[in-house]
Amino acid sequence: MRNESPVLKVYHDDNDEDFLTTVRNCLRRIPREIPPKYFYDARGSELFDLICTTPEYYPTRTETEILEQFGAQMAKLIGLDCVLIEFGSGSASKTPLLLNHLANEAYYVPIDICEPHLLHSTQRLKSMFPSMHMQPLCADYTKLSNIVLDDQTYSRRVIFFPGSTIGNYEPKEAVELLRHAAKLVGQNGALLIGVDCKKSPAVLNDAYNDAYGYTAAFNLNLLARIRRELGAQIDQEGFTHYAFYNDVLGRIEMHLVSKHKQNIRLGKETFHFDKGESIHTENSYKYSAQEFQKLALASGWYPKTMWADCDGLFNVHYLSLSANEPRHLTQYTR
Ligand code: AVJ
Repeated sequence: MRNESPVLKVYHDDNDEDFLTTVRNCLRRIPREIPPKYFYDARGSELFDLICTTPEYYPTRTETEILEQFGAQMAKLIGLDCVLIEFGSGSASKTPLLLNHLANEAYYVPIDICEPHLLHSTQRLKSMFPSMHMQPLCADYTKLSNIVLDDQTYSRRVIFFPGSTIGNYEPKEAVELLRHAAKLVGQNGALLIGVDCKKSPAVLNDAYNDAYGYTAAFNLNLLARIRRELGAQIDQEGFTHYAFYNDVLGRIEMHLVSKHKQNIRLGKETFHFDKGESIHTENSYKYSAQEFQKLALASGWYPKTMWADCDGLFNVHYLSLSANEPRHLTQYTR
């Protein structure tokens, strides 16, 4: 018997350096870099959802189309009665496109660092799939040494990692994260992962500079968060959002650039910024299908199949740890 708990209880894994320590250390160093995971407080998660609705930000829309068209195929490949572990589930808006095709016996385990978002989205999914077992986990998925679940009766563990968040990591770190994912799913595990493709810089630059200014607000919210949560003295108006495609490194870079000479005060420390000095807040690496498959192979994963939109914007890769599993041709949306 699989026991159904009537109320969703969020498990916590706080194996994490605290925000204050991270921000302080980041401001002390030059260049100044704050990891993008700190964007996602309640407000940041909300702003990210708004970014996803803009005409310029194609990844969400495109990946959704791919999942709409091929969700049934994906479900068959991963196994209808799998444990589906979602990395960085956020508002989990694309997840139903997969859950729709899984059996009620599947087990859904969303992982996110933003608890309000996690609870809200899991409740929503639970109301859509009432008999599916679900266990939200509030954690940084990169920091989990294992995931303790009562899941021996399921066919396999599968990690669902949509949204191209893998692009937030340096390629070396991405390899480490994929290896870590392999450990979490074990021997016959699988990985379904969304990856944003290399494309024209104009399209990329627009995607990170939307006309509504949601991306700018999302970036600047990090300063607001530092002020709110850590009591820092920061003139938010003194910084601007700057995002551009770095063609040499194949990544979008986001920065917060100081408009003039100023100081940030945090506790007893003062951090000086000259005009034009910045805090580097995000990288978003873009990979061709081949580049990503190479990265996967280097991490112990076998690329088995891939789905793509016909404009070459976005890829969803299905990777397995078993060399014997059959391979399939790439499929393209209509
Ligand atoms: C959630 C990491 C995939 O890199 O495109 C969107 C975050 N940053 N606009 C991305 C983001 C600015 C997004 N990921």
